[in-house]
Amino acid sequence: MASEKILITGANGQIGTVLSHALSDKFGSDKVLTTDLRPATNQCLPFETLDILDASRLEHLIEQHKITTLYHLAAILSAKGEQDPAKAWQINMDGLFNVLEAARKFKLKVFFPSSIAVFGAHVPRQQTPQHASLQPTTVYGISKVGGELWGAYYHEKFGVDVRSLRYPGIIGHESLPGGGTTDYAVEIFHKAISDKAYTSFLGPDTRLPMIYMQDAIRATLMLMDAPAEKIKVRTSYNISGMSFSPAEIAEAIQQHVPDFQISFAPDFRQQIAESWPESIDDSEARQDWGWEPVFDLESMTRDMIQHLSITA
Ligand code: NAD
Ligand code: SER
Repeated sequence: MASEKILITGANGQIGTVLSHALSDKFGSDKVLTTDLRPATNQCLPFETLDILDASRLEHLIEQHKITTLYHLAAILSAKGEQDPAKAWQINMDGLFNVLEAARKFKLKVFFPSSIAVFGAHVPRQQTPQHASLQPTTVYGISKVGGELWGAYYHEKFGVDVRSLRYPGIIGHESLPGGGTTDYAVEIFHKAISDKAYTSFLGPDTRLPMIYMQDAIRATLMLMDAPAEKIKVRTSYNISGMSFSPAEIAEAIQQHVPDFQISFAPDFRQQIAESWPESIDDSEARQDWGWEPVFDLESMTRDMIQHLSITA
């Protein structure tokens, strides 16, 4: 859309740092307004401070900048959420309500990221299906289930075009993660380059679904570009990239850094990880709008090490 004007919340986080550049490459830097509670990190893009709990400032920015599309990334992730559940609930739910209400009033299209954290007990942990029982054990997961359902409700009742992906753990070289259970899979690369050693806060055999940042961004743009009639799932689409355990990613890294050593000291995040799927069935995303990942563990590891070695 030539007149598209985008606002991103939580734009200074792990995903926002990369997504804002992808959107500015696609639409032009004057078409993307980045916002966050924290000061700007993407100095080359327009930035406004925005606490997502401040609904009137959100609406003021939407009006002032004639926003048409909102990518709502501001949230508290799984591990950080367990440290202060009430705050996580407030930011994740009240923040989303402010976004959905603004979208209803100003007729905005919305992207809302959900997560594999919506799953808990009573689902197959291998190839977890799109439509499954959602009984998460973290406040983060509960907020994502609520968020998915509210997004579908606003679509159904008010015609708001809300689209969503259940991201697996995201791994990228461009930015650091912000307090999730899958953060180890980014930290391990930085430590492999700097110290040739890493202590994993998850046990060796804890397999989780993961995706490379390039694939996650491509999936997001594909979903948002798809014609509305192709979007059959209005809660949130399962998407998948790869699955591996800390022991398996360490082995992949050792192909490039032969003297890399991993040790294990599982903490409270182990229990969260054990409540999540090991792999995800993303066949509905593939059928409905043509999703297909490019990166597997081997190609992602090669790319991460190449990029981080250059910047080390
Ligand atoms: P992040 O923690 O790196 O970034 C979140 C950003 O939100 C931060 O920059 C933070 O300053 C900002 N923020 C926090 N409270 C705010 C508030 N009150 N107002 C405005 N901004 C606020 O998270 P991320 O990894 O970039 O994740 C972005 C979204 O994607 C989140 O909704 C997250 O749940 C979802 N997600 C991420 C992953 C992943 O592996 N990174 C996986 C699944 C889903
Ligand atoms: N990567 C996220 C987390 O660990 C999953 O949503 O919290």
